[in-house]
Amino acid sequence: MTKYIPEPFKIKMVEPIHLISREERKKALQAAGYNVFGLRSEDVYIDLMTDSGTSAMSQDQWSALIKGDEAYAGARSYFRLKDVMDEIFGFKHFVPTHQGRAAENILASLLVKPGQYIPSNMHFDTTEGNIRARGGRPANLIIETAYDPASRVAFKGNMDIDKLRSFIVEHGSESIPFGMITITNNAGGGQPVSMENLRQTAETYREFGIPFFIDACRFAENAYFIKLREPGYEDKSPLEIAQEIFSLADGATMSAKKDGIVNIGGFLALNDSELFENVRNELIMREGFPTYGGLAGRDLDAMAVGFNEALQIPYLNYRLGQTTYLGERLLENGIQIIEPPGAHAIYIDAMKLLPHIPQHQLPGQALSLAMYLEGAVRAVELGTVAFGYIDPETGEEVFPKLELVRMAIPRRVYTQTHMDYVVDVLKEIKQNREKINGYRISYQPKLLRHFTAKFEPLNH
Ligand code: F0G
Repeated sequence: MTKYIPEPFKIKMVEPIHLISREERKKALQAAGYNVFGLRSEDVYIDLMTDSGTSAMSQDQWSALIKGDEAYAGARSYFRLKDVMDEIFGFKHFVPTHQGRAAENILASLLVKPGQYIPSNMHFDTTEGNIRARGGRPANLIIETAYDPASRVAFKGNMDIDKLRSFIVEHGSESIPFGMITITNNAGGGQPVSMENLRQTAETYREFGIPFFIDACRFAENAYFIKLREPGYEDKSPLEIAQEIFSLADGATMSAKKDGIVNIGGFLALNDSELFENVRNELIMREGFPTYGGLAGRDLDAMAVGFNEALQIPYLNYRLGQTTYLGERLLENGIQIIEPPGAHAIYIDAMKLLPHIPQHQLPGQALSLAMYLEGAVRAVELGTVAFGYIDPETGEEVFPKLELVRMAIPRRVYTQTHMDYVVDVLKEIKQNREKINGYRISYQPKLLRHFTAKFEPLNH
């Protein structure tokens, strides 16, 4: 059986969690409109909804909070963060933002014009939403292997460079204001991108004069995968690898709620000084003054400490180990996940687990609801509800290639026993899967529908 790597920390403060009864869980689901985003967290036992902003800060981060300088302009906290930013990311300019999507919004509002395209390996939902909100068209150009859950390749998050090149040639660089890549690829299994692929992506964008931005949410985890899997990087530190990654790009958007190990925070960083002028103005209007950007001074200090902690090998080893443990145990029990396990989450192939539910009856949604009903485990559908949409031209639903349920693992929060509990819940679901019904959407908003949509159970 897969071994568990012991936590490189001990627990100093605890947050109680409770398992409410099955009857109460049934009622909670009904009240939530059969959408796990509508549940109260006190009704959730193991919360794997996201690894974003849900991690446990260290004693060093908590003590850094006390030193927070709350000056409106030029706070010490800003300069402490700037030192760390300069070392790890190395872009000429940056502004703090309250989270990742604020950075995306600024970038999209300044650069995207209606009808323009933004290629990436795969955009995450908020990035897609921000691009679409400006009339832009996000394009996912990941390698085809990414769509085969069972294939084990080292860097399943890689951009398909041939696809990228033909895409640029087809649409013309003038209709592509910037290009992106997401590390790791959250929308497709949390899979990493290799340094070689990052370099080729950067070269392709550069050849056509297209600025290259990295969605850097999980940069430390991606750097560690490069160290473990890419020849030539065995002896480099995660920090050195991160530095090399960012040296390839013109800028980055970041949600520090992931690999900054903080509860709130992010940034937009870039080299273009002219664009930075506009970024600053936009930031002042919407987020705050450029030395705090929508955050408290103390948040900047926690972020500065968190970025460094996220790059430590004992931490990364445990982090990848915990996720691998969960993923491999599910595979041992015949539950198909996206292989190999990523670092921040395990993605279950819902169509494989619930083959009797056709895609238009939302098998991913059905599985996430079954996980809550069975064990008060909260996980999120990343399938038709999150990524399907109604084609404005045909009025028909467009289905994504994969129907996944993501169990994202907060950093430094849960133990091996919690992981074992989750495995038991899924084993139980698999045994009684015929009893699980499909769902239909009864209400949906225009953009980012999975957050607020409501559902109705279908009878067989
Ligand atoms: N990019 C990626 C790859 C993300 O995973 C997220 C957030 C964002 C951008 C936006 O950052 O939340 O700080 O505004 N992902 C979270 C998740 C919400 O659950 O995966 P944000």
